[in-house]
Amino acid sequence: MALSSSSSPKGIVIPVPVLVLSAAGAAIFLFFLLSSLSSSPTSCSCPTTTASTAVVQASRQQPQERISASEDDIDWVKTQIEVNGLHMQDNVLRKGINPRTRAQQLQDLIQYKGISHYEQEEEAKNHTAFPCPGELLVEQHHSNYGEPWAGGRDVFEFLAESSHLIPESRVLEIGCGTLRVGLHFIRYLNPEHFHCLERDELSLMAAFRYELPAQGLLYKRPLILKGEDMEFVRFGSGFMYDLVYASAVFLHMPDKLVWVGLERLVGRLKPLDGRLFVSHNVKFCSRLGGDECSKRLKSLGLEYMGKHTHDSLLFNHYEIWFEFRRFTM
Ligand SMILES: C[S@@+](CC[C@H](N)C(=O)[O-])C[C@H]1O[C@@H](n2cnc3c(N)ncnc32)[C@H](O)[C@@H]1O
Repeated sequence: MALSSSSSPKGIVIPVPVLVLSAAGAAIFLFFLLSSLSSSPTSCSCPTTTASTAVVQASRQQPQERISASEDDIDWVKTQIEVNGLHMQDNVLRKGINPRTRAQQLQDLIQYKGISHYEQEEEAKNHTAFPCPGELLVEQHHSNYGEPWAGGRDVFEFLAESSHLIPESRVLEIGCGTLRVGLHFIRYLNPEHFHCLERDELSLMAAFRYELPAQGLLYKRPLILKGEDMEFVRFGSGFMYDLVYASAVFLHMPDKLVWVGLERLVGRLKPLDGRLFVSHNVKFCSRLGGDECSKRLKSLGLEYMGKHTHDSLLFNHYEIWFEFRRFTM
């Protein structure tokens, strides 16, 4: 005889073991359901992780909140100087224990080499694979442009913030010299995302043999090419620049070459969002006359966006910048 404890209204008989097993299964299911609902969100690995990963990935696409120093940063450093009781008379540096001018330092290097150094030729060859000329070691090239070397940081901050740069952006500098500005972009950008066309061999030597190794930036593999003909095809294809800039360069070039350069680079600039910034003046354009200048820009697909000034953090100086974008696809 079949054991039955209950029967359905339609008279279907459910055996007791089946009923017990069903009840136990339901209890187990309920237990897991309740415990998963009551556990904290951080201990749940699936949906929360997916959501937070999405947030992290999204935030990587956003520009960093701030690149330039804030009011707080400046207050902080002023306080540090004050609490440490630091004083310096205007324009008078206190001398160190062995003060040397650049020229003297260079003479020391030639005459005495380093304080401890290898004498034998074979030994000397061994100690480093990458000797650097004395002129670069004493940073003679930091005085090549007549403006303070530290101004390179000001230029970077202005351009990076104005063009909403992120590390994934791609940047081309026309005439990067000894990387006074470029170093800051190279440090900030992903490897291989900084490109430069520079004509001067000595500047390029300073960049490759001193600045990149001394700043620990060789791993960023910037693509820096020697040339003066505005031949940007040499940088490869399959990408567009988010920012192209010429810092104190176009004013030293013949107008004709600037126009050739603009024509060649416009197709490499991201339409609408990409930016071209030119410092100091745009006489290559204004010399043509107002109307002619606008017509020529328009024929290339370039639109003038306005003039900006940017104050230096370290000295009483501002830089003038002219902003352009590409309006055609
Ligand atoms: C005043 S320096 C500025 C260097 C750098 N942009 C900076 O702000 O520190 C001008 C640079 O433009 C380079 N230059 C001038 N004409 C050039 C050309 N046609 N092609 C590439 N570089 C050029 C010079 O060799 C020099 O390094």
